[in-house]
Amino acid sequence: MSEDTPTKVYEPSAAAREGAHVSGMAAYERLVAEADADHAAYWARLAREFVTWKKPFTQSLDDSNPPFFKWFADGTLNASYNCLDRHVEAGKGGKTALIFEADGGEVTRVTYSELLARTCRIANGLKSLGVKKGDRVVIYISMSIDGVAAMQACARIGATHSVVFGGFSAQSLRDRIEDTGAVAVITADQQVRGGKQLPLKAIVDEALALGGCDSVKNVLVVRRTGAELPMAAGRDRWMHELIAQQPETCEPEWVEAEHPLFLLYTSGSTGKPKGVQHSTGGYLLHAALTTKWTFDLKDDDIFWCTADIGWVTGHSYIAYGPLALGGTEIVFEGVPTYPDAGRFWKMIQDHKVSIFYTAPTAIRSLIKAAEGNEAVHPKRYDLSSLRLLGSVGEPINPAAWEWYHANIGGGRCPIVDTFWQTETGGHMITPLPGATPLVPGSCTLPFPGITAAIVDETGNDVPNGQGGILVVKKPWPSMIRTIWGDPERFKKSYYPPELKGYYLAGDGAIRDAKTGYFTITGRIDDVLNVSGHRMGTMEIESALVSCTELVAEAAVVGRPDDTTGEAICAFVVLKRPRPTGEEAKKIAAELRNWVGREIGPIAKPKDIRFGDNLPKTRSGKIMRRLLRSIAKGEAITQDTSTLENPAILEQLAETN
Ligand code: WT7
Repeated sequence: MSEDTPTKVYEPSAAAREGAHVSGMAAYERLVAEADADHAAYWARLAREFVTWKKPFTQSLDDSNPPFFKWFADGTLNASYNCLDRHVEAGKGGKTALIFEADGGEVTRVTYSELLARTCRIANGLKSLGVKKGDRVVIYISMSIDGVAAMQACARIGATHSVVFGGFSAQSLRDRIEDTGAVAVITADQQVRGGKQLPLKAIVDEALALGGCDSVKNVLVVRRTGAELPMAAGRDRWMHELIAQQPETCEPEWVEAEHPLFLLYTSGSTGKPKGVQHSTGGYLLHAALTTKWTFDLKDDDIFWCTADIGWVTGHSYIAYGPLALGGTEIVFEGVPTYPDAGRFWKMIQDHKVSIFYTAPTAIRSLIKAAEGNEAVHPKRYDLSSLRLLGSVGEPINPAAWEWYHANIGGGRCPIVDTFWQTETGGHMITPLPGATPLVPGSCTLPFPGITAAIVDETGNDVPNGQGGILVVKKPWPSMIRTIWGDPERFKKSYYPPELKGYYLAGDGAIRDAKTGYFTITGRIDDVLNVSGHRMGTMEIESALVSCTELVAEAAVVGRPDDTTGEAICAFVVLKRPRPTGEEAKKIAAELRNWVGREIGPIAKPKDIRFGDNLPKTRSGKIMRRLLRSIAKGEAITQDTSTLENPAILEQLAETN
């Protein structure tokens, strides 16, 4: 918050405080003090409380080889046992685990006993194909009961899953399969989004045909739409056929706490997407703990996180956290605007959702839709079941926060603005709804045990009220363990030597001078956040220049966008004379589709501009800061005297 912004504070109501797992600021402060007094002992206490161990651990944190930290290393456990069996053993087998709503509105409910049986059959099916502990399995599937069950089945047999979002292209899928060295791919015949049937298995075929995927021995296909598909003999199998005769029980594979539960690819500022490796014990602890404290999840809640299981939010707050606590949650296949932009509100009404967790982009686009069409305005729906709202993925601007609070939360539901990352495994800076006074636009205070701080380039603390680099000073249980196959890149990306051994988040932040509340000011690297999806500018540039027939050079920057937070803006030099008018439009459309095919539709640039050259320094470095100003439509205030050809700035300002 800057000094001149009037700060509105929303104190937790009596209703929010009452019965909350963390109730009142004094309770929050006690937890922070407990962690401060003995960091390792604090986390050990919670790990014993939240996780059922096969073999109890004797050591909490092992920091003998920083930054390769280990947590609870001599303990053994199984994540799927913790998410399923232990609730069934406690007599909760008949409780609904998942309420699946398909794109077309069909609803399927699954109890804990049923989800356990399904998970075991898939686990046994995988075992029958020789998949074993330590193998990697890529899951390329849309939101579904089998998607969640497949993740749980991998966890059950100790195979490390890597879910690839169903919107990624064959090329992106291929890259991830190759990097993981996966032995199997689990997919579906098709996916359904907004009434349209879209390919999945066909993209797997295409990815495997691109080469480099010899590790893949089996492709398992879940039947979603019943589409006719070519099945490669000896490689492809229908999931329902594979598991038809499989038993409904499967002894869990007890793994060490550090055993990699999953790899999830995310974008960095340079190079290819990196495979973020998460542990089993520490990860599961934080997924469960944050679900309990941040979402204040109780036994009778209906929890709905709208993320896709292809992102980390869908891992921690669909596939693991709520299940580890024995909660009931919604799994939604479709899109927020189908059959109309009232879909979310109708689903909250129909299923009596009590906790709702979504992204600012979705909120902003639904505000627009509601303002344009009374029929989909949330006031037309009964949203009285809600008691808590959440936001994730990007900063939520105060205006969207206020709308969300008033129109969805009826003025009574706290909003938890949760700051975290793929690498952090779970919430890092967030309000706790029964304790923390809320300030729109601020993610407030660190989760107890998370030592978030703001420092300068040399790792020294900066005073509140002054912006700086967001770091985490001490290791925490759900942190990234390494980048799959590239420990050096892990060290370089997250533990630069000048930062005194602190974890570098990659975001800038500022703490309020009076309250110490955190506000995230955005990435400090070349990573963009488009609709809450993380994209590296370099990745998009590489995709553009790989169109060798057309493109000589490309530079990509972000610019602010009212709906998507940031929009992708590409500056392109072609191998032919600079196009204008209709020709420029046509080539821009071609390049957009090219990027869509190379990476996925989420990476398509919103703006593409053509120049005879790009603005460069004398040493040939592209002046990105200049490009960012041009993309925003700002006047150029930077020094341009080193530019070879200042006239290109005018060219690049022209939109197509
Ligand atoms: C980046 C991480 C967290 C899971 C989904 C995204 C931005 C995330 C917030 C927030 C401001 C946020 C940061 C972060 N971000 N949550 N509440 N307020 N910014 O995970 O794809 O790994 O992206 O998203 O820039 O570094 P991700």
